[in-house]
Amino acid sequence: MIEVRRSTPEDFKKVYQIECESYKHPWGMLDFYDDFVENPRSVWFVAVECDVVIGFAGLWIGVEEMHIVNVAVTKSQRKKGVGKTLVCQLLKQAESENISKIFLEVRKSNIPAINLYKGFGFREMYVRKGYYQEDGEDGIVMILENK
Ligand SMILES: CC(C)(COP(=O)(O)OP(=O)(O)OC[C@H]1O[C@@H](n2cnc3c(N)ncnc32)[C@H](O)[C@@H]1OP(=O)(O)O)[C@@H](O)C(=O)NCCC(=O)NCCS
Repeated sequence: MIEVRRSTPEDFKKVYQIECESYKHPWGMLDFYDDFVENPRSVWFVAVECDVVIGFAGLWIGVEEMHIVNVAVTKSQRKKGVGKTLVCQLLKQAESENISKIFLEVRKSNIPAINLYKGFGFREMYVRKGYYQEDGEDGIVMILENK
């Protein structure tokens, strides 16, 4: 049984392991820790199975909009609905804060993530050419607007 709950600082070690196995260019550890623990505008969730963190998701809350910052699931647990469960939780959070516009940015080549977001009704808004500094890949900005 998978449970999604708000993160605690103690989750960071496992979350950062998942970050590092999920991205060729992970966030720097200190920047990630700052956001995960210190940023008052960030909300982070973890997916837990049998007391083990298997995924995480985070968002930044603005005045009238919200940005999905990161969603990742440990490799061995992908394609089992954990990503969907995490995004559902982020959308519930948006609803509870009365936020109707949700943005995110995704690499053009990241088909699993693009499909995941499209499944929730996100649409591609525009392309940021060469947005990812590490390798110059384009970023796609996606939006979900709840009317
Ligand atoms: C993107 C990611 C979070 C998806 O997590 P997941 O737990 O495997 O996703 P789910 O099992 O909930 O799948 C949800 C939907 O995502 C899409 N999807 C997931 N994996 C996919 C794949 N390998 N290929 C194509 N579509 C895929 C499908 O639309 C799927 O819906 P379906 O099962 O009805 O077909 C996961 O692949 C991951 O951690 N990737 C690395 C980190 C990352 O790129 N995060 C996104 C940053 S913007």
